[in-house]
Amino acid sequence: MNKKVYIETMGCQMNKSDTERILGMLYHFGYEETSESKDADLLIVNTCSIRQLSADKAYSLVGVWGKWKNDERQKELQGKPFKEIKIAFCGCVAQQDKEKLLKRFPYVDLVFGTNNVYELPDLIKRINEGERVCATNETPKKFTDGEEEAKYEIKRAKSLNAWIPIMEGCNNFCTYCIVPFTRGRERSRKMSEIIAETRQAIKEGFKEITLLGQNVDSYGKNLEAENGIEPTLANLLRELNKIEGKFRIRFVTSYPTDISDDLIKAVKECDKVCEFFHIPMQSGNSKVLKEMNRRYNREQYGEIVKKIRETFEDVAITSDFIAGFPGETEEEFLDTMSAIDEFELDYSNTAAYSPRVKTKAAKWTDRFIDEDTKFERLARLNEKNREACLKSNEKCVGKTFEILVESYEDKDGKIILAGRAPNNKIVHFEGSKNLVGEFVNVKITGASTWHLRGEL
Ligand code: SAH
Ligand code: SF4
Ligand code: F3S
Repeated sequence: MNKKVYIETMGCQMNKSDTERILGMLYHFGYEETSESKDADLLIVNTCSIRQLSADKAYSLVGVWGKWKNDERQKELQGKPFKEIKIAFCGCVAQQDKEKLLKRFPYVDLVFGTNNVYELPDLIKRINEGERVCATNETPKKFTDGEEEAKYEIKRAKSLNAWIPIMEGCNNFCTYCIVPFTRGRERSRKMSEIIAETRQAIKEGFKEITLLGQNVDSYGKNLEAENGIEPTLANLLRELNKIEGKFRIRFVTSYPTDISDDLIKAVKECDKVCEFFHIPMQSGNSKVLKEMNRRYNREQYGEIVKKIRETFEDVAITSDFIAGFPGETEEEFLDTMSAIDEFELDYSNTAAYSPRVKTKAAKWTDRFIDEDTKFERLARLNEKNREACLKSNEKCVGKTFEILVESYEDKDGKIILAGRAPNNKIVHFEGSKNLVGEFVNVKITGASTWHLRGEL
């Protein structure tokens, strides 16, 4: 009988994509995925370290699993039937905390970092032989060794969208951010590999691919030209757009000043590429941006937004903001509030600043904003975001969008479909179940804060 693996994924899309690769490898080695953690022989938590809260969630989950493992151990000692549970801790917290995790959690069998996914077969073998292992190399194996990757299929989550990492790591060292420490320096995957993976995903029936990276618009910097084509995100989009079939292409995340004119041009030219840009601004105040080590000011961000809005009629531009960065004054915070209005941002992810070890800003303790102020600002920011989303959605009423139908719900005998427009907005409309997975034109008839309503 196959062994069962349960994996809890706590982080961003990159983290989700790692989970798909981990499951692919484990499948190859006789593990089958279960959605019931209680049934699993191998429990894996794929962690995120972006805020303290995310890391704490992981610590408390392995605590629960540790208790289960101990209960089984007690049964074993009493000669009763028992299950041998193995616990693995991976992802960004693992990359950061390393061996410390084995010391802190005596029931954890394996710690593996973001660079060690491809060593998993050996690591699993070792823990099944009773060893406790920590594998957190600093040198990335991933993306530098295409052959290793090609050996294993990817177990993609059941959805219409395939996540395709195109680059990993980050060289920006924004003063608040842990990612350069958990994902290492920036490196890109070869265009030919990305094209092959996309072809495969389309062949398997995926209707959308999302190119992933911490800064996708700086894709290709460490690569040589392939067949005379300069490896840039713009050119990659052009190559992917040539792949036959009806599907959509998206990309996240963009760094504001790395969005080139050629990238905007490529998005415009390529019919499969969606008119959607996620461009985190982080703060609306130029002084705070400087302290965050972001390489742009408020005006420069505005210019990029303007250029994009002039090029595309129905484009959506979304952002991320941090409230209560060390030293942020009320006035500076109000610049963030006004940026959402001024740049007509369609949606923003928001967070209260959370100090992360090793990062520069975490050392500025004398300028920390007290928790009450931070969360009060966050609440105002969230309210502003809600208003902005509603305004942005209301502007869509009367337009017709091509919708990729993702799911349905039976509401008192009526089938309500849900899907996304190219600009990533969610649309609900009545229709038949067999439209799931299809592209249909929908006229927008109404708007709420988080979704649009329409009719076929
Ligand atoms: N590469 C992307 C963001 C990756 S992290 C970029 O450059 O924008 C995702 C988001 O988490 C960030 O945009 C930021 O808004 C938030 N974030 C990162 N570190 C944080 C911290 N220490 N406290 C609060 N939010 C943080
Ligand atoms: Fe973090 Fe900045 Fe890199 Fe984004 S660009 S991952 S926020 S260091
Ligand atoms: Fe979190 Fe790591 Fe992604 S810290 S946001 S899972 S890159």
